[in-house]
Amino acid sequence: MMSDDIERVCFSAEEIRTRVQKLGEEIARDYRDASEKVYCVGILKGAAVFFTDLVRAIDRPIDFDFMIVSSYGEATVSSGQVKILKDLDFSIEGQHVIIVEDIIDSGTTMHYLRQMLQGRHPKSIKICSFLSKPSRRVAPVQIDYLGYEVPDEFLVGYGLDYAEKYRNLPYIGVLKHSVYE
Ligand code: IMP
Ligand code: MG
Repeated sequence: MMSDDIERVCFSAEEIRTRVQKLGEEIARDYRDASEKVYCVGILKGAAVFFTDLVRAIDRPIDFDFMIVSSYGEATVSSGQVKILKDLDFSIEGQHVIIVEDIIDSGTTMHYLRQMLQGRHPKSIKICSFLSKPSRRVAPVQIDYLGYEVPDEFLVGYGLDYAEKYRNLPYIGVLKHSVYE
């Protein structure tokens, strides 16, 4: 079973549900009077699970879009370069954008993405991430909607993977060290 590989549960499915509901309510409230479109942009694949829960917790019209990005490994830390494997389908000019991520770690990916999308002249850009590891930050990122701050431990589940595994675990947990070794 997948749970045999988990050292400790950080956030249960129930806790996650409650937190996501609150984030959705917060977002709905903030954009209540917006007449422009609100684009929720999910960063695949990690944010897929959080994204689908989050949008259903936002009680107002939302447009979906997705991006697939990949970082260049260690080189990204200095260059801040991120490779876009799938770009947005729609123009965001003059519209509201909420970038939805699973976790912000070094911040490199989000720092780059935000700047890139800003260049397309949206009306606003906000960042929503379910998790953040502030102690790991290299690039500055302002997170507008955050689920939880977490310590520097490797987490899996609820979209987060280790070698593409555990994304479909319904809770978030710390992976056993024996799994890496
Ligand atoms: P960064 O903020 O540019 O360093 O990259 C964030 C990305 O690293 C996330 O979207 C995840 O794909 C991955 N990541 C960071 N920490 C973890 C973790 O604890 N578990 C699984 N993936 C992680
Ligand atoms: Mg990711």
